[in-house]
Formats: sequence, structure tokens, C-alpha cells
Amino acid sequence: MKKVILLVVPMFLIAACASQDGGMGPGMGGNGMMERHHAEIPAEYAGITNPIPADTESLERGGELYTVNCASCHGDGGMGDGPAGSALDPAPSPIAHSSQMMTDDYLFWRVSEGGTPFNTSMPPWKVLDEQSRWDLVNYMRALGDGTVQPVSGMGGAAYDPKIQAAQQAEILAKAVEQDVITEEEADTFTTVHDAVEQYRITHPEVIQSSGNATEREAAILSALVDENIITQIQADAFQDIHDRLGTSGLMP
Ligand code: HEC
Repeated sequence: MKKVILLVVPMFLIAACASQDGGMGPGMGGNGMMERHHAEIPAEYAGITNPIPADTESLERGGELYTVNCASCHGDGGMGDGPAGSALDPAPSPIAHSSQMMTDDYLFWRVSEGGTPFNTSMPPWKVLDEQSRWDLVNYMRALGDGTVQPVSGMGGAAYDPKIQAAQQAEILAKAVEQDVITEEEADTFTTVHDAVEQYRITHPEVIQSSGNATEREAAILSALVDENIITQIQADAFQDIHDRLGTSGLMP
């Protein structure tokens, strides 16, 4: 008797093969995350806010959806280190971190439309109803702020701000070495970056607000200047350094 072998090709494999981004080699940075973060959000999505409270039920639904559909690439903890993501270029984003910085409308847009506008292998998830996509947004944020612990399944590290900080320090050191920025500018960048990060934690409403990433960052910087946490000179320098790191391709 002949055995019938059913070959099931998971969605992520198909998507992985469809990756078309030329990009730089893996590990070289420059995967364009910064540009995507500053891209204009299409009118259909711009300004929408999450109608689903991040309660236990939502996080449970989001966690199930995440484990089945996302962890293969983004990793159990949302660090972008899932097994199916390692060969992708650009690599899957550390969404536990991104979701702390980015607004509802950005995340909902990116989950819904995937990498289509940017030619990446991030699949679009419009097949999931809107509530499910918002549950996923809630879950990604909860992974990043420690409200939930990663479900182990696919593999990958739990989100750890220390790892994020170490990665940033490495990028800055490389930028100094390549004369993209000076040592002093690297320090300024770290100081201002930490202050911005702290502000986001103490003012969670900022990530819910509308406006694109550029506008929101400018608003945070001017608030920090008003509160005398950083100087205007540091704020201006930060944006300039940020731009140079972006253009150099060192900052992902
Ligand atoms: C085939 C692998 C793959 C799968 C599966 C996948 N992603 Fe992604 N995702 C990526 C890649 C690669 C990127 C980076 C490129 C981009 O932003 O388009 C990305 C980017 C994102 C971003 C943008 C983050 C940022 O910082 O800009 C979000 C949000 C996201 N994914 C959420 C999800 C969610 C939620 C799921 C599950 C429903 C999922 N992804 C499933 C590969 C994947």
C-alpha cells in the first residue's frame, strides 16, 4: 500500500522565500527599521487608537495568536530572534521594544498590511479580524513592559532592556570608529536616548497619541527641554546624530 505524504508548507516559509529586500548583510545593521518607523502612516490607519482594553482576556487571546502566528519569526519574547527569522533580511523586528515606542496606529497598520509597502517578508495579517489584531498589539506591548512572561514554544530570549542597551552601545562604538559621530556625540546620544525612553515609560499616553514617530519624538524632546532634563543644544544634537546614524545604515 502506498502512503500518502501530505506536505504542509507553513505560511512563514512561503513568506521567507518571498523576501526581496536586497539590504545589507545580516548583522550589518541598516535594515531600515528606522525609516519604517518614520514612514507616513496611510490615511486609512493614521490616528486610530486601540479600542480593546489590555485586560487579561485580551492578553490571553493575543498570546495564543502570537504563539501560533508570530513567534516563529519574532521569537517567544518578541526580540526578533525566532528560528524562522534568522535567515530573513531585513530581520524580524524586536517588537517587544518597538511596541513600547510606536503608536497604536503604526502597530495596527504594520500588523494589518505587513511588509507589503516596504517589500519585506513580514506577512500581512488582515485575515485576522480587527479585535484579534488589537489583541496582538496589546500582547506585544505586554511582552515589552513585563506584564506577561513569554510562552516558550518557538524559542528566543525574553525581552531585556539591558540587551537592547548593549546593542545600542555596540552600534555607537562602531559609528565612532567609522567617524560617523564623535565620542562626545555618542555620549549625548545615549543621555538623550535614555531620557526619551524614561519619558515614554512615565508618560504611557504618548505611545497612544496620534501623530507620526517624528512628530512624537519632537514633542518628547521639547517636553524634556521644558522640564530641564536635557538642554536645547542636546535636543538639537540628538536629532542630527540620529539622522546621521540612520543615513550611515548603522542604526537598524
Ligand atoms: C515570516 C516571518 C514573520 C512572521 C511570521 C511575522 N513577522 Fe512581523 N516582521 C517580520 C519582519 C521580517 C519584520 C521587519 C520588516 C518590516 O517591518 O516589514 C517584521 C516587522 C513587524 C512589525 C513592525 C515592527 C517595527 O518595529 O517596525 C510588527 C508590529 C510585527 N512584525 C508584528 C507581527 C505580528 C503581530 C505577527 C503575528 C501575527 C508577525 N509580525 C509575524 C517577519 C515576520
